[in-house]
Amino acid sequence: MPKQFAVIGNPIEQSRSPELHQAFAQDLGINLQYDKRLAALDGFEQSIEDFFKQGGQGLNVTVPFKEQAFALCGHLTERAKIAKAVNTLWMENGVLHGDNTDGQGLVNAIAALGWSLENSRILILGAGGATRGVIFPLAQAGAQYIQIANRTLSRAQQLVEDLKAAVGKTQLHATALDQLHGEFDLVINATSASLTGEALQLPETLKFDHAYEMAYGKASSFLDQAHQRGVSSSDGYGMLVGQAIEAFEIWHMVRPDLKKFL
Ligand code: ATR
Repeated sequence: MPKQFAVIGNPIEQSRSPELHQAFAQDLGINLQYDKRLAALDGFEQSIEDFFKQGGQGLNVTVPFKEQAFALCGHLTERAKIAKAVNTLWMENGVLHGDNTDGQGLVNAIAALGWSLENSRILILGAGGATRGVIFPLAQAGAQYIQIANRTLSRAQQLVEDLKAAVGKTQLHATALDQLHGEFDLVINATSASLTGEALQLPETLKFDHAYEMAYGKASSFLDQAHQRGVSSSDGYGMLVGQAIEAFEIWHMVRPDLKKFL
């Protein structure tokens, strides 16, 4: 019987994780089964308990359970502790282990695009869970300055307070979304505005070389504006592949080649 893996969320139908993990496994000659698991909104803990009791090896966690997964782990990686959210679970010596591979997934995707993060100036739009998960990995990848711009300024300020000790010499700065200006190497849209179809207006006084939209498969006014300016840009599919590669490596100790799966 192949080893069992799954992605758990609610809803779950839209998840691309099974096809990615199956493609990695096929490429690397690994035998696995990777399913989608729908958990009831109040049934996450029971569902993961059942999965591991039945011999499951590893779970990916998606919306809306990443914070609950974080709270249930007996052991967490440093980046998961900082993100306060977990997207990858496994059992070791009877202890539930959790990691968060989303931020490194973004770093992998950016590297595959050939954009350098070393000494970079980055603007992140949004201050929710998606932003929290990527700041530490971006800092570790060499970002010099990260500005977090949010509609609700206090959330961006809180994030800076929470994360400034973790990011070492990377400077963090909070601003309001309607105060955007300055020059950046990279702007990342981590708001959920694209998911709801709402438009973000990037002012002319904001200059940047690259634009990364964390969402994928949706119309994005953020990407439209990047195209209009002629700057290089990407949607979030590479980040999805990038985080899956990190999870795959944790579970199987071999690393798929990102560029083969973009
Ligand atoms: P996630 O975990 O995906 O980051 P979240 O925690 O709900 O989700 O955060 C959503 C982010 O998108 C927040 O930064 C939110 O701004 P507020 O903190 O001011 O609510 C931002 N956001 C959502 N819709 C937006 C819109 N139409 N314009 C600007 N920002 C928006």
